[in-house]
Amino acid sequence: MDIKISASILSADLLHLEDEVRRVEAAGTDMLHYDVMDSVFVPNISFGLPVLQAVSGATDLFLDVHLMMRDPLRYIQDFAKAGADMITFHLESASDPFQTIAAIHDCGLKAGIALKPATPARAVLPFLDDVENILVMTVEPGFGGQRYLHEMDQKIARIRSLLEGRRVYLQVDGGINGETTAEAVRAGADLLVAGSYLFGMDDMGKGIAEMRAAAGRTS
Ligand code: DX5
Ligand code: ZN
Repeated sequence: MDIKISASILSADLLHLEDEVRRVEAAGTDMLHYDVMDSVFVPNISFGLPVLQAVSGATDLFLDVHLMMRDPLRYIQDFAKAGADMITFHLESASDPFQTIAAIHDCGLKAGIALKPATPARAVLPFLDDVENILVMTVEPGFGGQRYLHEMDQKIARIRSLLEGRRVYLQVDGGINGETTAEAVRAGADLLVAGSYLFGMDDMGKGIAEMRAAAGRTS
């Protein structure tokens, strides 16, 4: 299966962010994953608009923005202006999903919906024809470096079958590494976010190669 890999800079060495962005470019990832946390929707705070603007000004990498925040609709235009290419927000957040998807599209960006582990697959049903990405969280959102929740495999498989061949990314985020990649891809994922695994490698390119090889073994 043709998979895409998105490196989550939550696990980057933030004091040397430019070097880390160069490392991601050199490693041959497909996207850069940018996690926004607001301390309300998740019990953590990451980074926001100014850092995204700095990153987008410094790279041509596709910027895959994951909003873990309450009421994301208020901030769609700001994240678009700061350089996002795709914005994925949580169905459990307080904004109306249809309005939020429309706002993202109005800015000319790809739109995604994200599901926390407790949210069932059927929650995506109303949106299948309206989004470019569906993100199944494979950990509780909020922190990098957690273990992949194997019980999410069924949800991934269910959503893959609901998609019925539609060209929508099925993204997984949390606990993805050289081993869990195979499991997630076998279940149906095709866009893999990896943070601590990739940034923890001396040679990030090796990590990408491991993930692509693991995905290849599933077909
Ligand atoms: C977690 C974030 C993830 C995080 C993944 O809430 O959404 O993107 O960076 O980190 P790893 O790959 O270390 O599990
Ligand atoms: Zn994320």
